[in-house]
Amino acid sequence: PVIPLRPLLEATEKYNFAFGAFNVNAVAQVKAAIEVHEMFRSAAILQGADLANGFMGGRTDFLNSTLEDKRKGAKNIGDAVRKFGENSPIPIVLHLDHGRDFDSVKAAIDGGYTSVMIDGSSLPFNENIELTREVVKYAHARGVSVEGELGVLAGVEDHVFSEASTYTNPLDAVEFFRKTQVDALAISYGTMHGAVKGKNVKLRREIVIAIKECLKHEKIFGVLVSHGSSTVPKYIVDEINGLGGEIKNADGIAVSELKKAIECGIGKINVDTDIRLAVTRNLKEFFQYNPSKRESASIGGIYQLLEEKKNQIDPRAFLIPIMDTVMYGTIPDDDVAGIIQCV
Ligand code: G3H
Ligand code: 13P
Ligand code: NA
Ligand code: ZN
Repeated sequence: PVIPLRPLLEATEKYNFAFGAFNVNAVAQVKAAIEVHEMFRSAAILQGADLANGFMGGRTDFLNSTLEDKRKGAKNIGDAVRKFGENSPIPIVLHLDHGRDFDSVKAAIDGGYTSVMIDGSSLPFNENIELTREVVKYAHARGVSVEGELGVLAGVEDHVFSEASTYTNPLDAVEFFRKTQVDALAISYGTMHGAVKGKNVKLRREIVIAIKECLKHEKIFGVLVSHGSSTVPKYIVDEINGLGGEIKNADGIAVSELKKAIECGIGKINVDTDIRLAVTRNLKEFFQYNPSKRESASIGGIYQLLEEKKNQIDPRAFLIPIMDTVMYGTIPDDDVAGIIQCV
């Protein structure tokens, strides 16, 4: 069944574990993502980022997504999640990642998202609280869960690079939970978005511990979310570079660091980059082992883009030639079916 995020968050509190939350960037990824979770008998948190909604709504230059693009994309992915998730034996959540503003949140909920993030982390504290509170009021009235964000992660986000991180202040976090009633909060404690996170990143677990202790003391429910948590497997980066890629300085968060963070109270772990890396590797391998497909009328354009953009790891840059499939998951021919195996 398709459910809100809240019951899963409650489970993480009760049993002290964390869910992975995995970004999808194409409607065609939904079926596979659900099947993998079914294999592991795990609930699934699938998330579409604000601009990913624009892309899945057909906006190839998704950085310029309009509200209409996002609305269309939210409906496309919402329909797919219902189609493949409604009769699934596992609980499935469709969560908006880094919602930018109130209208984007509404568009997501209209399309069938059962959980939303409103990212007011770039706003002054009180404005962040104000915006998040409004979203909570709107979403909770519709049975939709809400995640907020406090603090700034270094790294690439929406293709804007923030040089330094500002760690989340634990007392602010507790006040934020109290005043907004959010179900979950993304914090800044050493992780960052993207494939270049720096060597041997140590997470500031004391921030997690301080927030969780204060919440317990004040009897406030609140789950902490670790964004920017991809592990960036070296072997995948090496495989991409071995196939002509030019990815430099790629480093992720160590699994051991994430495990310790879970013990301290992290309950949701966001992963996007690792999936992007795997898809990029798969696409390159596909054309390596099926050279005749480089000339394919339907997918040859993907090969051209892979050749042109050697340091790109975002599959959205490559999938533009099969935009209808990206949007609706429909597969017009065998060559496109081969690409869908890759994503
Ligand atoms: O938070 C980071 C996600 O990976 C969002 O990425 O804004 O490029 O869709 P995007
Ligand atoms: P990564 O870039 O580390 O995969 O983080 C993804 C994320 O935080 C999505 O919200
Ligand atoms: Na942010
Ligand atoms: Zn994030």
